[in-house]
Amino acid sequence: MTAVLAQGLRKTYGDQAALDGIDLDVPRGTVCGLLGPNGAGKTTTVRILTTLLRATGGRAEVAGFDVTTQPRQVRRHIGLVGQHAAVDELLTGRQNLELFGRLYHLSAAEARSRASELLEQFGLRHEGPAKEYSGGMRRRLDLAAGMILAPPVLFLDEPTTGLDPRSRAEIWRTVRELVAGGTTVLLTTQYLEEADQLADRISVIDTGRVVAEGTPDELKSKLGGDRLDLVVHDPAHLARAAEIIGRAASGPAEIDRDTRHVSAPVSERVQALTGVLTALAAAGIEVEDVAVRRPTLDEVFLNLTDTAGGTR
Ligand SMILES: Nc1ncnc2c1ncn2[C@@H]1O[C@H](COP(=O)(O)OP(=O)(O)O)[C@@H](O)[C@H]1O
Ligand SMILES: [Mg+2]
Repeated sequence: MTAVLAQGLRKTYGDQAALDGIDLDVPRGTVCGLLGPNGAGKTTTVRILTTLLRATGGRAEVAGFDVTTQPRQVRRHIGLVGQHAAVDELLTGRQNLELFGRLYHLSAAEARSRASELLEQFGLRHEGPAKEYSGGMRRRLDLAAGMILAPPVLFLDEPTTGLDPRSRAEIWRTVRELVAGGTTVLLTTQYLEEADQLADRISVIDTGRVVAEGTPDELKSKLGGDRLDLVVHDPAHLARAAEIIGRAASGPAEIDRDTRHVSAPVSERVQALTGVLTALAAAGIEVEDVAVRRPTLDEVFLNLTDTAGGTR
C-alpha cells in the first residue's frame, strides 16, 4: 500500500518553478528521504503534501486521500514537524504536549494521558520549561507534538539541521522507533549520511526535480563507485590515455588539461588499475601519478546536485 504518492507535482511562483514535476511513491511503513541542498524544493513538497500549500500542477495522495480534494481527511492521518520549532519555550514539555492535544481537539483528560505517554516514549522527563532543554530534547519534543494523534504518516522537515552529532543520533533513534511501530515517515534532509542512516529509499532533489532515486546502496553503487585518477607526463597523450581508461571504466573519462589529469569511475578497482597501467605502458604513455580513490558520500551528492544544472 502506498502511503504517499506524488505525480508530476509542480509549484510556480511567478515564472519561477519551485517544483518542476516531482514524482514520489512511498510504501506504507517505510522511510522516504528527500535529499537536496537549500532551495531544492523540499519544504515546498512537504507543504503541498501536508495541505498547507496548493500545487500549481500534478497530483498527490497521502494515506489514500487526495491532498487537493480531501484535505481534511489527509490532515487527520498526518503529523508534521516543520523546520522551525513549534513548542512554547516557557512551558514545560508536558504543558506543551497537553496544549497540542487540546489543539487537536482531545479532551483535557485525553490530552493529559497522551502527554504522559509521549513524554515516556520520547524520553522527556525533564520537569522544567522547554527553554532549559538541549537542542536534541527540543527536537524530540517537536517530534512528540507531531505524534499526538499517532498519525500513520509523519512528515519531518530537516529534523536534525543545526543539531550536534549526539542529538542527531538521538533523533535518528527516535525516528527508527516510530518506524518500527509502523509509522510511515517522509523526511527531508541536506545530509546524505542522514538519508543513508534512516531512509529505505532516497529521492535526491535539486531545483525542483528528482535527479536520482533508489535505496541508499543503489545510489552509492550507481554514483559513488571508485574513481581511477591518473596524471600523464605528456599532455599530448591525454586523449589517448582517456580512451584507454574509458575502456576499463564504468562511466565516461574526464580530462583536466591544466593538471594533465584523467579520471573515470571504475567498478573493479584492482582489475581496472592493473589493466589500465598495462595498456598505457604498451601504448608508450608515461604515467606520473595514479590513484584509485573512494569518493565520500558528500562528494557523490555534490556531484549529483551540480551536474543536474541550475544556478542559484
Ligand atoms: N513563497 C515563495 N515565493 C517565492 N519563491 C519561493 C517561495 N517559497 C519558496 N520559494 C522558492 O522555491 C524554491 C524551493 O524552496 P524550498 O521548498 O523552501 O526549498 P528547500 O526546503 O529545499 O530549501 C526556492 O528557490 C525558493 O526560493
Ligand atoms: Mg526547507
